[in-house]
Amino acid sequence: MAKFNRYLITAALPYANGPVHIGHLAGCYLPADIYVRYLRAKKADVKFIGGTDEHGVPITIKAMQENISPQDIVDKYYNIINESFAEMGISFDIFSRTSRPVHHETAADFFLKMYNDGRFEEKESEQYFDEVKQVFLADRYIIGTCPNCGNEKAYGDQCERCGSSLSPEELINPRSALSDAVPVKRKTKHWYMPLQQYEPWLREWLLEGHKEWKNNVYGQCKSWLDNGLQSRAMTRDSNWGVKVPLPNAEGKVLYVWFDAPIGYISATKELTPDWADYWCREDTKLVHFIGKDNIVFHCIIFPAMLKAHGGFVLPENVPANEFLNIEGEKVSTSRNWAVWVHEYVKDFPDQQDVLRYVLCSTAPETKDNDFTWKDFQDRNNNELVAILGNFVNRTMVLMHKLCKGKVPPFHTDVKDDKDDAVLAVLQNAKQEIEDALENFRFRDALQAMMNVAREGNRYLQEKQPWILAKTPELQEQHQALIDNCLHLCLQLTANLAIFCNPFLPFTARKICHMLKVVDRMLEWENAGSLKLVSVGYSLRPPELLFKKIEDEQVAAQVEKLRAGLKPSSTANAEPAAPAAASAPAAPQKPEIQFDDFAKLDLRVGTILQAEKVEKADKLLKLLVDIGTEKRTVVSGIAMHFRPEEIVGKQVTLVANLAPRKMRGIESQGMILMAEDNGKLVFVNPAEAVSPGSGVS
Ligand code: 2FM
Ligand code: ZN
Repeated sequence: MAKFNRYLITAALPYANGPVHIGHLAGCYLPADIYVRYLRAKKADVKFIGGTDEHGVPITIKAMQENISPQDIVDKYYNIINESFAEMGISFDIFSRTSRPVHHETAADFFLKMYNDGRFEEKESEQYFDEVKQVFLADRYIIGTCPNCGNEKAYGDQCERCGSSLSPEELINPRSALSDAVPVKRKTKHWYMPLQQYEPWLREWLLEGHKEWKNNVYGQCKSWLDNGLQSRAMTRDSNWGVKVPLPNAEGKVLYVWFDAPIGYISATKELTPDWADYWCREDTKLVHFIGKDNIVFHCIIFPAMLKAHGGFVLPENVPANEFLNIEGEKVSTSRNWAVWVHEYVKDFPDQQDVLRYVLCSTAPETKDNDFTWKDFQDRNNNELVAILGNFVNRTMVLMHKLCKGKVPPFHTDVKDDKDDAVLAVLQNAKQEIEDALENFRFRDALQAMMNVAREGNRYLQEKQPWILAKTPELQEQHQALIDNCLHLCLQLTANLAIFCNPFLPFTARKICHMLKVVDRMLEWENAGSLKLVSVGYSLRPPELLFKKIEDEQVAAQVEKLRAGLKPSSTANAEPAAPAAASAPAAPQKPEIQFDDFAKLDLRVGTILQAEKVEKADKLLKLLVDIGTEKRTVVSGIAMHFRPEEIVGKQVTLVANLAPRKMRGIESQGMILMAEDNGKLVFVNPAEAVSPGSGVS
C-alpha cells in the first residue's frame, strides 16, 4: 500500500485587507496550484483548500484607515482576492472565509477542547490601554521612538527603520495609533499556550523526523527551537474575531494566528462531509504552502496546537518560499510598490500563463528573487514564444502543409537515430518532471518541460521536412521521412500539453483544442505515450499560443509602478524603502596597494544556523557553511535581524581573519555588511553561488 492515499493541500489564507500581488502568487499560490494540478493529473484523491483570513490587527487597521467597518473591508477584499485567484487559474476546491459561521464554531470548539484538557495557562498581565478609545492596544497600535535608532514612528513590535524587534515597553514616548493619546497600563487576563512544553516533541517530530524539508524552512525552525520557546497568548482584547468561548470572557477573541490555521479545517468541513477523512486519517498527506514569514506559525505553533488537541494529522511538508522583490525593491503594499494581480489580468488579457511561467521560472524557492518587467518580456519573447510556441506552431503549420492536415503515419522501416534520440528526451523528461514536482522543485520541473520543446525544435531543424518536400522526384521516399518527423512532433506536442498542464493550464487546453483531443488526455499516465493523436485524424488549424510582448507594454508597466509609488506612511506595517543615496558617506580610508587587498580571503557562505548569544543584546552566533567547512561566527547584528529570518541567506565572509573570542565563543571569521543610515544589509552576490565561492 502506498504510504499516502489522499492529499490535503493548503495555501496560506491571505488577510482580507487588500488585493493580492504577484509576490503572493509566487510565494505560495502558484506552487500549490502546480502541485495540485499535477496530483489531479495523477488521479490522486486531493483537496486544495484556500480562503481569506478575516480577523486580526491588519484588518482592523485597514478599516480604521478607510473609516469603514472591518466587515465592509473583508467583504470588499474577499471578492477581489477570490476573483484574482480564479482569473489566474488557481484551482482551489474551496475558497472560504474565516468570518463564516462554520469557522467560528470550529475554532471555538478547538479552543474549548484544549481548555477543557487543561492546555492553557490563564495569566493576568499589564498591557497598554487607550483611555480615549477605551480599548487595549495590540503591539501594532502603539507607536513611539525606537530606542535603537531614534525612529519616531517605530511600532510596538518592530522598528521598520532599523529592523529591530521591540516590545511596547521599549518604545520611548509611546502613543496610541488610534487616538494619539498616551496609553496607560491596565491589567488584563489571557490564555497562554505553554509552547515550551511541546519543545521536546517538536524536536523529535520536526528536527529528527523531517530532515527532508527545505533548508530555509528547516533552518528557521531549528533556530526557533534552539532559541527556546515560551508561553504565547492565544487570546486578545478585541471585538473583532472569534469570541473566546468561556464565561466572563467579554471583549476577548482568539488570537488571529490561533484561529487562522484552523480555517483550513473549517474550509474542508464546508467543502465536504468527508472532511475527517482528510484531517484525521494517518494516510493523508497534508502539505502547507506558505511564504517564509509564516514558517513559525505553520511548522511550530499550529502543529503544537494540533498535537495538543489530538486526533489530527500533522503536516508532512511545508515547502515555504522566500520573497519576490519587484524591480530590485522589496514589495510594499503601503507604498504601492507591487504588481497587483487584478490589474495584471486587465492589462494582459488572456496572458495568465505568461505570468504563471515567469513567476515559476523565477520563483524564490531558495532565496529572495527579483521580478522585473524586462525579464518578464524576455522570458515571454525568448522562451514561451521562441521555444514552446514556436515548436507547436511549426509542427501544426508543417503538418497542414505537408501532410494534408491529418496525423501522418509512422513508418518504422525508415526510423533513424534522430527519432530515437528525441523519443529518449521525452521519456527522460517524464521522470525528471515527476521527481522535481514531488520534491517541490518547481523551477527545475518547468525547465525540464521546456527542454522537451527545445529538443523538439532541434529535431525539426535537423530533419528539415520542408526541404525534403522540395524534391518531387524523390517524393515517395521523402514523404515517409516527412511523415515520421511530423508524426513524432505531433506526439511530442500532445505530450507537451500533459507536461505543461500543471504550470500553464490555459496553454495545455489550447493545445488540446488544436489537436482535437479531450482534456482527459492530460492525465499523467498518458505522458510518454506515442499514441496520443491518432493516425489519419484531421486536426484544427494552428493558433498562436503566445504573442510577443512589445517594449512599449513593458515601459508602460514600469512607468505605472513608479507613478503609483506613494510615500511611506506611518499607518502601515511594512519596511521603508532603502534610504536615499544622499546619506553622508564615511570618510575615505588611506590608500592601499593591491597586495594589501590580496591578503584578504573573502568567501561566500550560507548561514545554516543563527541564535542569540546569552546576555549579549547585540550578538548573534552564526554557523556559516563555506563549502569546505562550517565556521562559527559571532556577529554584532542582533539589533538588526531576528535569527530565524537570516537562516539560509548568503553572506561574504572574511575567512582568514585571526579567530577571536567573544563572550566565550570563538569567532572564526567576519561577515561583511553594508550600512545605510543605520540600517544593515548583508553584502552578498547578486545571484546565489556555491558556498565557498571566492570573492575578488
Ligand atoms: O500572512 C498572512 O497573510 C496570514 N493571513 C496567513 C495566514 S495562513 C493560515 F494560518 F491561515
Ligand atoms: Zn529603530
